[in-house]
Amino acid sequence: MLSLFSPAKLNLFLRVIGKRDDGYHELVSLFQAISLGDTLHFSLAQKDSFQITGPVSLPMGNSNLVIKALNLFRSKIKKDFSVSITLDKKVPIQAGLGGGSSNAATTLWALNELLDFPVSTHDLMEWSKELGSDVTFFLSGGTAFCTGRGEVIYPLPPLAEVPFCTVVKPNFGLPTPDVFKAFNINDRKIHNSYYYNDLESAAFLLRPALAQIKEDLLNAGFTSVVMSGSGTSFFCFGEGVIPSSLQSFPVHFVHRNPATWYPSPSIQMRS
Ligand code: C5P
Repeated sequence: MLSLFSPAKLNLFLRVIGKRDDGYHELVSLFQAISLGDTLHFSLAQKDSFQITGPVSLPMGNSNLVIKALNLFRSKIKKDFSVSITLDKKVPIQAGLGGGSSNAATTLWALNELLDFPVSTHDLMEWSKELGSDVTFFLSGGTAFCTGRGEVIYPLPPLAEVPFCTVVKPNFGLPTPDVFKAFNINDRKIHNSYYYNDLESAAFLLRPALAQIKEDLLNAGFTSVVMSGSGTSFFCFGEGVIPSSLQSFPVHFVHRNPATWYPSPSIQMRS
């Protein structure tokens, strides 16, 4: 049995450059993997099986990115094998935290490890682009400057840790395509902070409560409150009192060494 941590991500900054002819948006963004994550369990088996446990529910079928990653890996490697997969889901969905993308990247890594690494990480990164714009990032070391749809990766060395970082999520989410559809390039602001997200204006248009939540968190004492990805979660730096209506997760940044997957955060905390 192979059990792997599947970290979420933050977009420490996210600039939208414009809409492309293929319908996607050209981005520049600094991605960072964090200690909030899911756990996936894999073992070679007589026949395929897939279970989801944990507090967050999501679809089990072929639309699930774990299944998409399994099907992609099998079609690329042209080798027949069966696998039993359990996803212990903790990362909120429709949160801009890349939870599904991370599960897909973790699945690609795990299948390669279970079969004794028949392909390189570079191959996995190339294949991952077919699964979604954010999947490739998770196969980097955990910090990367990303362009294109988000899938063109410039790996960076680990950033200095921010002493207090909390991810805050309201009890509603937003589908990524809706946020990009609502995005208006003319609403972009000139940002005077290192941390910002051009998609905030679109998400706030769709769910005005988000603007109030950001203001409340800033008034609660946090020094910086910025939406991650297409929302609806925010990452907050500093300290403050979080309203009880919001889910909150204290997090730290996580990384992996080239030869191994992300260690589970309890191990990383001790090292
Ligand atoms: O690539 P992914 O499947 O994660 O993207 C989901 C949707 O988000 C796309 O179909 C597109 O509508 C939108 N998107 C975008 N520009 C990006 C990434 C995603 O417009 N750079």
